[in-house]
Amino acid sequence: MKTPTTHGVLLKWVTDMTTLCIPDQVVWCDGSQDEWNRLTQLLVDQGTFTRLNPAMRPNSFLARSNPSDVARVEDRTFICVKRPDEAGPTNNWADPAEMKAILLGKFRGAMKGRTMYVIPFCMGPLDSPLAKIGVEISDSPYVVVNMRIMCHMGSHVLQRLEDEANAVTPRKRDGHSYFIPCAHTVGVPLEAGQADSSWPCNDDKYICHFPDAREIWSYGSGYGGNALLGKKCLALRIASNIAREHKWMAEHMLITGLHSPDGSVTYVAAAFPSACGKTNMAMLVPPKEYAEAGWKSSVVGDDIAWLWPHEDGKLHAINPETGFFGVAPGTSYSTNPIAMDSMKSNTIFTNVALTDDGDVWWEGMTKEAPAHLIDWTGQDWTPDCGRPSSHANARFTAPAAQCPTIDPNWQNPDGVAIDAIIFGGRRATTMPLVFQAFNWGHGVYLGATMGSEMTAAAAGTIGKVRRDPMAMLPFCGYNMGAYFAHWLEMRRYLTHLPRIFHVNWFRKSEDGKFLWPGFGENMRVLDWIVRRCKGEAAGHETQIGWTPSYDDFNHFGLAGFGEQEFANCMAFDRKEWKQELVSQAEFFIELYDHLPKELLFQRELLAARLV
Ligand code: GTP
Ligand code: SPV
Ligand code: MN
Repeated sequence: MKTPTTHGVLLKWVTDMTTLCIPDQVVWCDGSQDEWNRLTQLLVDQGTFTRLNPAMRPNSFLARSNPSDVARVEDRTFICVKRPDEAGPTNNWADPAEMKAILLGKFRGAMKGRTMYVIPFCMGPLDSPLAKIGVEISDSPYVVVNMRIMCHMGSHVLQRLEDEANAVTPRKRDGHSYFIPCAHTVGVPLEAGQADSSWPCNDDKYICHFPDAREIWSYGSGYGGNALLGKKCLALRIASNIAREHKWMAEHMLITGLHSPDGSVTYVAAAFPSACGKTNMAMLVPPKEYAEAGWKSSVVGDDIAWLWPHEDGKLHAINPETGFFGVAPGTSYSTNPIAMDSMKSNTIFTNVALTDDGDVWWEGMTKEAPAHLIDWTGQDWTPDCGRPSSHANARFTAPAAQCPTIDPNWQNPDGVAIDAIIFGGRRATTMPLVFQAFNWGHGVYLGATMGSEMTAAAAGTIGKVRRDPMAMLPFCGYNMGAYFAHWLEMRRYLTHLPRIFHVNWFRKSEDGKFLWPGFGENMRVLDWIVRRCKGEAAGHETQIGWTPSYDDFNHFGLAGFGEQEFANCMAFDRKEWKQELVSQAEFFIELYDHLPKELLFQRELLAARLV
């Protein structure tokens, strides 16, 4: 038999994992079209996938998960480091040796009756200085085909790994192992003759990170961020540790280019919590008045940004992913036509509804629901049945290369230079439409104190406001206080600091209606942000930061949005802000031992301005 790799360390790891997991066979993934065809057909044959009507949605599939396996499981996500304070109070901590012992027990024989796939992948363009190679072993063919969309995957990545290992001076990626081992199993071994289910998963779940060893172990789930280990586990939780050590940043941010009529492009990165509008903003379609004037937007990334201080003194960013794993419900030709066009073919849909003609549908896709559907649980569905047809966290996996507005630099190893960083959460009250931080330190404070209503992206209480600093609460792989210190420190390595802003698309009136139209109209807010970055727009100093007046804000062409409506979106309510300060204080006390003093002082200064 041909040796699958010349990489000794990788071969040994795969051999050890084979001995541990006892799969029926081991398959090294090459990332080819042929492999995709084989595995998608296998998934159809075993009932996990339904092939969609090729005339309507070529080479696309619908997957229905087990109803218990539909979102990230934050309470089963662990950071395994020596001391609890290294993980910090916002993470679940576990002792590495103890957790490893548990995992070895769980993984022992876990792949019996299944195939173990070896998936070489690279987060980021292969030639980027930040690129990270990982190898995921998984017993889920669903994971393989999703990984092929979401990142560089297959033989060319393995070849690069081998070349680097064999080079006279191996290029050590940030001084650590050549690849990040990612072990995944759905945790359902099959005894001889035992029938499989269409979505095997285990009620007992472990999503474990070993930042010191740079290892990931995931047990029991087949869904999204729990199973596609390059995404949240590697590109955020492990990468945030590497980034801290090597003075760069791994963030839960979209990256978008705003092209103004004079031909200049302003790149902005925005951190919004899960299901709070990153994909929408990344793919923003400027309103008619803007398009006619020559404005355009382009997509670099919709979920994760890796940012580093470039030799040119600016903060550069790459998107480590090559696909979108986007929220389906609410996505339509009116809210996000670019996403709709990106998923016309070669797309995997998970937990949406199936139409009678073999296409997909979800709440919000069209004004009127089809008369009959098969819902995400496989049952008949009619508009009057009282159940949603799709799960609230249903997702599409689409290749970024199919996005009609993909940025020409999206695979540039040198990234794009970021001029503005935007923070924002889902807040029905308190937070105005937009304001600008006084400086970097104040901006870090705005990010650190971000709050947002919880969404269906994670299992838990929906709608409750929680602190979600920099949208990284579920994704920061070390102590949150130390993470804030790292953010503050980054200021020292940049000569051109991005301006920092806070936005809120989700403020509501007393009768529960959104005060701001949102979506494409967000361009008007971004327009003010771009002009602020260029020093062209006026800003007014308030207690909370710099804000636009009605006249600084381009409201032309926005029907029904006058001075009063603008004032409602921008309103400052001292009582609400005092409440906000109290809630921030509670959060800061939790983080007390690692919290940089500078943030406490920022809070004091805000309190002084509120009096
Ligand atoms: P993850 O992929 O989970 O990290 O999330 P994301 O931030 O990419 O979420 P996404 O863009 O898919 O958010 C989808 C949700 O945000 C849907 O419920 C949209 O309707 C809503 N949304 C997005 N933009 C806006 C907006 O400008 N206004 C309002 N009101 N809702 C918005
Ligand atoms: C999120 O929850 O922020 C996501 C989806 O982007 S998942 O990859 O499932 O975590
Ligand atoms: Mn996300």
